[in-house]
Amino acid sequence: MAVIRIGIVGLGAQMQENLLPTLLQMPNIRIVGVCDITAARAAQIHRFLSDVPVTASVDELLTLTAPDALVLACPPQAHRDIALQAMRAGIHVFVEKPPCFTLDELEALVLANRQSGVITGVGMNFKFAKPIRQLRDMTQAAPFGRTLHVQLNHYASKPRAPLWGLDSTLRSFLLAQAIHTIDLGITFGGGELTGIRSRVQRYDDSLIVNAELVFSSGTTASLLCGTMFPYFEFDMKIVSSTSMMVELDNLWNITIHEPEHGTRATGTAKRWRGVWQPGPLDSGYERSGYYGELFEFFEAIRKRETFNANFESLLPTYRVIEQICAADSQDIGVVQTFALPTLHATSTANPGVVSNVL
Ligand SMILES: NC(=O)c1ccc[n+]([C@@H]2O[C@H](COP(=O)([O-])OP(=O)(O)OC[C@H]3O[C@@H](n4cnc5c(N)ncnc54)[C@H](O)[C@@H]3O)[C@@H](O)[C@H]2O)c1
Repeated sequence: MAVIRIGIVGLGAQMQENLLPTLLQMPNIRIVGVCDITAARAAQIHRFLSDVPVTASVDELLTLTAPDALVLACPPQAHRDIALQAMRAGIHVFVEKPPCFTLDELEALVLANRQSGVITGVGMNFKFAKPIRQLRDMTQAAPFGRTLHVQLNHYASKPRAPLWGLDSTLRSFLLAQAIHTIDLGITFGGGELTGIRSRVQRYDDSLIVNAELVFSSGTTASLLCGTMFPYFEFDMKIVSSTSMMVELDNLWNITIHEPEHGTRATGTAKRWRGVWQPGPLDSGYERSGYYGELFEFFEAIRKRETFNANFESLLPTYRVIEQICAADSQDIGVVQTFALPTLHATSTANPGVVSNVL
């Protein structure tokens, strides 16, 4: 297996807590240099690897180390600009999510990716988390039938102010958090995304987003997320044409409900349910998807194959994000049935918006 020489850009919290420990466990990966605009931050790599060159400039990192690939965990504007620079130089590039701020910017990244022919990747670790992979195997198995509906609940308590110099808390939340959930809705929905309806409620500095997605396969997905919740939780349910329902609780337990379930001890009976859990000794990075996403990215480089969380794969997700933001800012199609009098009484309340896109 060929050794891939990588440059790290952005040695902040996400790199140090998740990506770097994963990279250090990975076979045939050599970290050849580290760049962070804060030089002291870049030097923190020496806690993990003693003789790696560090720099505060990406230009210098490229000249000094000539890496095969860059792995970035920076703010999105740096992901966008450095990814464009890397692609122009023919260097493979993996960026943490979000890769950029808008659909237009993502389209520019996709175009540059097609022109350069390098392998690109975005850190959509939920998609590679062990329970999500298990859920995909279960729902693709013949006895499950066709997926008819996906329900996703992503409860968060932040951000309650705009991030990264943006002026919208809604866009910041969608890019920082809901991007994972929207991407999962699209992954499990299957086929083309053909319709979106969305509504945003606000109270003080928090918000709740409801979105309904429709796919060409006939599958629907509904998404409830926002920052109004007490803490982070994530769960999802998938209902099939054979009346099976699988439920994922907090990216951990999967419960499968079937109309009838047979065990050797009881024979066929109603109201039994099966449960799947990750193994207690599974590494945290494998369970949370960091190992899987990076491993598959590097495999795609070795085999010259498309990585399935590349820039292009995020186009439908960014279409949903744009649509939710546009519907919210245009205040089109206000829902008359939306009635939360206490919310309307505050000056920060937004009456909620619904829109359709086909
Ligand atoms: N996959 C996930 O679930 C997940 C979780 C947390 C964070 N993230 C993402 O990781 C990214 C980084 O988040 P963080 O919490 O580590 O932030 P952070 O601020 O702790 O780290 C970012 C680092 O990038 C450096 N930096 C900024 N601009 C740079 C540039 N132009 N060149 C080189 N270095 C630069 C900063 O100095 C800093 O050290 C964000 O995009 C965030 O959304 C993803």
